[in-house]
Amino acid sequence: MKKMNKLYMGTNTKMYKTIADTVDYLNELSTLTEDLDRKHLELFVIPSFTALESASKTVSPESIKIGAQNMCWEEQGQFTGEISPLMIKEIGVSIIEIGHSERRHVFGETDTEENKKVLAALKHEFTPLLCVGETLEQRQLNVSDEYLRIQLKVGLDGVTREDAHKLWIAYEPVWAIGVNGIPATAEYADNKQKVIKNTLIELFGDAGLDIPVLYGGSVNPDNVEGLIQMPNIDGLFIGRSAWDAKGFNKLIRQAMPLFMGK
Ligand code: PGA
Repeated sequence: MKKMNKLYMGTNTKMYKTIADTVDYLNELSTLTEDLDRKHLELFVIPSFTALESASKTVSPESIKIGAQNMCWEEQGQFTGEISPLMIKEIGVSIIEIGHSERRHVFGETDTEENKKVLAALKHEFTPLLCVGETLEQRQLNVSDEYLRIQLKVGLDGVTREDAHKLWIAYEPVWAIGVNGIPATAEYADNKQKVIKNTLIELFGDAGLDIPVLYGGSVNPDNVEGLIQMPNIDGLFIGRSAWDAKGFNKLIRQAMPLFMGK
């Protein structure tokens, strides 16, 4: 598989940081990582909606890109509680996270809805970060590959080969995420990342090779090195272990030399 020239490292802060927390965190993270060459590192943070405007004023996209955790596919209308692409566009956000496991499994979002969000994100020139991952039950039934392929084929329906390079994908097995998560082994994760990459090639031909595929789910200081050396892992999408700027900075510094050397 083609090697990406950049390591992708990002975090979704879920519903944990206020505006003040987010600004402090971003200031600290940008200072700690300022010596790291952005030619080889794509660093991104995805805070809560209320913090987005302050976040995008705090750091430049060259240093840390900012993303939104969700987005409605409609531009306006009778959709109480939703946030439209036009509203997010106003505040300097570049990435839209789509279909995180909690959106799918706590809030009941479907592949068809994720697909509408992907297409809306592309239309409004955001980078869609589509998250996919199998549940424990699917893994036990040995149908993980089938589910990953369905999530990708439905979620990316209608995306053209010309637009494929604008996509980012995160593989996050549901059973590996969060406080009750069991980290996937590096070998298991790499095997599924390969299934994802092969599906992207099937969908987009060679353009599928340009789509970064990140791994997420209980990434921590003990497993980061094993994961990032795997051939099909282009970066890491981290929750708990990245919410302290010093901890995140350490993970990036653990991963970067190994990624560059593989
Ligand atoms: P975790 O979260 O690293 O805390 O398991 C990962 C995620 O939800 O993206």
